[in-house]
Amino acid sequence: MPSQSHFDQNTTHSKISKPYALRRMLGLGSPLTAAAQLLGVHDVVSARLAETAGFDAVWASSLGLSIVAGRCDRDELSWMQLADAAEQINEGTSLPVVLDGNDGCGDINSARLFARRVARRGVAGLSIEDKKWPRKNSLAGNFDLLDPATFAAKLTSCRDATDVDDFVLVARTDGLIVGEAVSTVLKRAEIYASSGADAIIVHSKYPRIDEIEGFMADWDGRCPIIAIPTTYSDSPQSTFNKLGLAAVIWANQMMRASTEAMRITAGAILAGSMEARNPGGIDGVEQILALCNCGLCSPLRMRP
Ligand code: SPV
Ligand code: MG
Repeated sequence: MPSQSHFDQNTTHSKISKPYALRRMLGLGSPLTAAAQLLGVHDVVSARLAETAGFDAVWASSLGLSIVAGRCDRDELSWMQLADAAEQINEGTSLPVVLDGNDGCGDINSARLFARRVARRGVAGLSIEDKKWPRKNSLAGNFDLLDPATFAAKLTSCRDATDVDDFVLVARTDGLIVGEAVSTVLKRAEIYASSGADAIIVHSKYPRIDEIEGFMADWDGRCPIIAIPTTYSDSPQSTFNKLGLAAVIWANQMMRASTEAMRITAGAILAGSMEARNPGGIDGVEQILALCNCGLCSPLRMRP
């Protein structure tokens, strides 16, 4: 039997556990040298492309997972569906996976069961956000937040429910998104850090990095901070590093790139464009076959 080269579900290339690898890249138990780069993915293919490109880890995006399932990012996917999707992505890449677990998919009890299931399936980390259920995507209009104490109780129950070594619990605050002052968001972050969160995502939709800068200026560094620079994507990596961010998440660029490419290709094929029918502007079949990563599919010889 030829040896197969499937990605290892539980470990990175260096055979340390994925949760441990994630912990280290966030500066937990090791010095932080630069902000880790996480790419938002919505399936195994996008995760494998993230790995090939050299990203440190992937973010299984609730927006991406919802859109590919034909659902709205308003809790239309159940926690079991999110856990299944994250497990599949985790099996398909050797990168650590952080699942975007929305608000924990309901009350304290649902969040606790969800967190335990996700951790036991080998997913390195889970993020839960302080929105009130039913929630919606942060960039999709108005929503309300839980009071910090109620969300803190949810975090603690998730922490207590997970029994996998080094599993990373990420608390996400959308305080800045709903217009709270930086001082209020700092208070939230302090409470979340002392309630079981290993790291905190501070989300902002301001068109420049200013709000995150303001937050980092007064953060005492008690736990790593992660940003999602969708609306300030022109900020260079050197700025993220200078601010002391532990990681940045490029949450939806892969989804947006793929929908644009598919829209153009679909239109071009119907319009009879030979360019779209030929493998010049799109990947060749051999590149798609290579993505299954089995080591068994021989490259297809395309006729000129
Ligand atoms: C996601 O990728 O689903 C996120 C990030 O939660 S955002 O869409 O900015 O809320
Ligand atoms: Mg999300």
